[in-house]
Amino acid sequence: MKAGIIGCGGIAKPHAAGYAALGVEIIGVTDVNKETAEAFAKEHGGKVYADYKALIDEAGPDVVSICTPPVAHEEAAVYALGKGVNVLCEKPMAYDVASAHRMKAAADASKALFMPAFRHRFLPGTMALRELVQSGKLGDIVIFNNIFGGPSFKMEDKWFTKKKIAGGGCILDTNSHSVDLFRYIVGEVADEKAFMHRHFKTTDVEDAGILILKAENGAMGSVESGFVLGSGAAYIDIFGTKGRAIFDYYKPLEVRYMPMGDTEWTVEEIPECPAAGFAEEIAHFVGAIKGENKLAITAQDGVRAMEIICGVYK
Ligand SMILES: NC(=O)c1ccc[n+]([C@@H]2O[C@H](COP(=O)([O-])OP(=O)(O)OC[C@H]3O[C@@H](n4cnc5c(N)ncnc54)[C@H](O)[C@@H]3O)[C@@H](O)[C@H]2O)c1
Repeated sequence: MKAGIIGCGGIAKPHAAGYAALGVEIIGVTDVNKETAEAFAKEHGGKVYADYKALIDEAGPDVVSICTPPVAHEEAAVYALGKGVNVLCEKPMAYDVASAHRMKAAADASKALFMPAFRHRFLPGTMALRELVQSGKLGDIVIFNNIFGGPSFKMEDKWFTKKKIAGGGCILDTNSHSVDLFRYIVGEVADEKAFMHRHFKTTDVEDAGILILKAENGAMGSVESGFVLGSGAAYIDIFGTKGRAIFDYYKPLEVRYMPMGDTEWTVEEIPECPAAGFAEEIAHFVGAIKGENKLAITAQDGVRAMEIICGVYK
């Protein structure tokens, strides 16, 4: 199997490492900044192509990772899917809901696979939380609390805080993972509301946000993010009618669980220190392309995250 990388910035590196770990050759790379693409190719392999069309048409990859900012996801994804090339697309899936729908239509019409890159689903901690919920040990889920935040440096100077490139601010960027995890662990979202604020004076998106979700099954979620947080935090804390469970990303070797009536945590140990989930995500996608496993995340999952978050922007 041969892979191409579209957009050679920060997140392209773990994608390339994930393919390399599986013996999937990187045969082509492209970036609007040619020097970035050249430096990337030197480190990870592959020939540099002028753009995604040249990469797909001339190099003929089986799979491409789209690692550009959101505004450029649709064009490359639709082109690749039209040519029968499998697409792993970074989150958020698109710039806006209409764009996400067009991408899903291209995925539905293609014989190739499309997966939005929600890597958090591949962490042992999030999988353990899902198992605890599904086993009934927590009872009915009442509240899902989650924060993903900083510390973030000079975000006001980056594309992440420019609406025309990112499509939104920290809620779209960061809480797209949260919405996907809420749907994965708790259930489908029935309603959503949010508060958001812009601390930066020179940007046009929210840099702090609280998104409130209500699931079809009655569970509620409060998920938070910020581009202005002075300290890092990343955890999921779930309260059910029969107990509570926490996965703190800063303690990646354990999930804590407390049944109702107990005053001590039961610690479920995670045997191996998980990486960030990229390698597992790429192994899963390559496995799905080979027909070894069913695709876990679909274009519809990417669309739902967009609909829910863009819904609160309205
Ligand atoms: N899964 C995660 O946890 C995670 C973490 C960070 C970023 N991301 C996502 O990954 C994507 C990229 O983020 P990043 O942090 O790597 O950004 P980045 O700025 O480091 O890299 C983006 C690269 O894309 C290039 N680029 C821009 N437009 C392009 C185009 N039209 N064609 C080709 N190249 C183009 C830029 O020159 C840059 O090198 C975004 O969607 C972002 O939200 C995901």
